Amino acid sequence: MAKRNIVKFGEETLRKHSREVTVFDDRLWVLLDDMYETMKDANGVGLAAPQVGILKRVVVIDVGEGKLELINPVITSAKGKQRDKEGCLSAPDVWGYVERPAKVKVTAMNRYGKEIKVEGKELLARALCHEIDHLNGIIFTDLADEMIEDEEEKGRK
Ligand code: CO
Repeated sequence: MAKRNIVKFGEETLRKHSREVTVFDDRLWVLLDDMYETMKDANGVGLAAPQVGILKRVVVIDVGEGKLELINPVITSAKGKQRDKEGCLSAPDVWGYVERPAKVKVTAMNRYGKEIKVEGKELLARALCHEIDHLNGIIFTDLADEMIEDEEEKGRK
């Protein structure tokens, strides 16, 4: 495994639409392993492939409930609302409040191309929405209704 460089806000890559994965080979597995290592090293709870410069629909998440690897993820259901602080590994010092669904259901593939279903609420629902947005060129500051300036108010990403 190897750590990769994280693309920062302002770079064009983060605004592009990522492509579906059709080949589930060892190149994909290396990407997933590298993304997980990169995310953990940066103390993040989620990372999308465009954030390491790869325009593929690949996401890793770990909000403390175990590692999730999602290929070609699609939100199939979104219910309720939650508003909380949000950050991004592509902008270490930027924080804002974003309204997200309280609960989402996602269908995706695992690293072997098998369909999986994930349900998330609270932080996991937020992470799923945030990371899937990255695959469509959307970053959280597009959605934030209030940015946080106070250093002490900022939290994890
Ligand atoms: Co992000």
